[in-house]
Amino acid sequence: MITEQEFDRIVGYVKRKAGINLAEKHVLVQGRLENYIQRNGYSSYHEFMDLVERFPTGKEAKDLMNMLTTNHTYFWREHEQFTYLKQEVFPYLRKKTESTKDWRIWCAASSSGEEPYTLAMLCMDFLGLEHPKWDTKVLATDIDTNVLEQAIRGVYTKDSVEQLPHQYVRRFFRQINDIEYRVTDELKKEVLFRQFNLMHQLPFRKPLHVVFLRNVMIYFDEPTKEKLLHNIYEKMEPGGYLFIGSTESISQNKTKFQYIQPAIYRK
Ligand SMILES: C[S@@+](CC[C@H](N)C(=O)[O-])C[C@H]1O[C@@H](n2cnc3c(N)ncnc32)[C@H](O)[C@@H]1O
Repeated sequence: MITEQEFDRIVGYVKRKAGINLAEKHVLVQGRLENYIQRNGYSSYHEFMDLVERFPTGKEAKDLMNMLTTNHTYFWREHEQFTYLKQEVFPYLRKKTESTKDWRIWCAASSSGEEPYTLAMLCMDFLGLEHPKWDTKVLATDIDTNVLEQAIRGVYTKDSVEQLPHQYVRRFFRQINDIEYRVTDELKKEVLFRQFNLMHQLPFRKPLHVVFLRNVMIYFDEPTKEKLLHNIYEKMEPGGYLFIGSTESISQNKTKFQYIQPAIYRK
């Protein structure tokens, strides 16, 4: 059993490092860590946390973060946003970047890759035969190294891939057995996966055109969310688009982002 003191120590650490607020998630924290603590022979959660805190870039710290993030995602999630992207955002972007042909799209909590691969498919589909002349590579980041590995592998179950429109499945996937598909090399090349913690300083030199920040702010408290949104705003191109999860919202008196329609904002 985890003691109150141990629980507070873990929750405090994860909040400080990743912004994730688990103060009300006793069952989740214990449920996800218990097995690991036993399997690795720790005599207490404190003994494990001593290592986490002593070696902030070590295996234990990484394991802790990987265990306590929630990575739920799926292909074609909240797909009205993808329609909006193709019908409104991409035509605008094509015009705006006619001379540079450089699109800067960031998928900021990419989990196991379903979302950024979809963004890359949409770019290729939209630009069609013109696509090779453009640089539309999607930058996909997440704090969790396990999901990033899965994303780079690019293997998904048949059931999950079949959520996508059929023409995308045909063009961007190869079936590898009865139950699994793999993304094509052509699509893989269009997404760059990197580990990145949203609590850190944003590393962009060139302003971003499109940011997908879906279903991650729900884990943060208000001040953390506000600060992150402010940082993102500063790194975006005027006219750039921000997409958030459909159950998330941004209070209009606390942001410079302009509200366009539910879950879509603009600088
Ligand atoms: C529920 S998933 C959302 C995936 C995808 N955006 C979607 O909407 O389907 C949330 C992701 O946010 C990531 N995450 C949580 N805190 C983070 C942080 N501080 N920095 C970067 N990623 C974080 C988690 O690892 C997880 O993969």
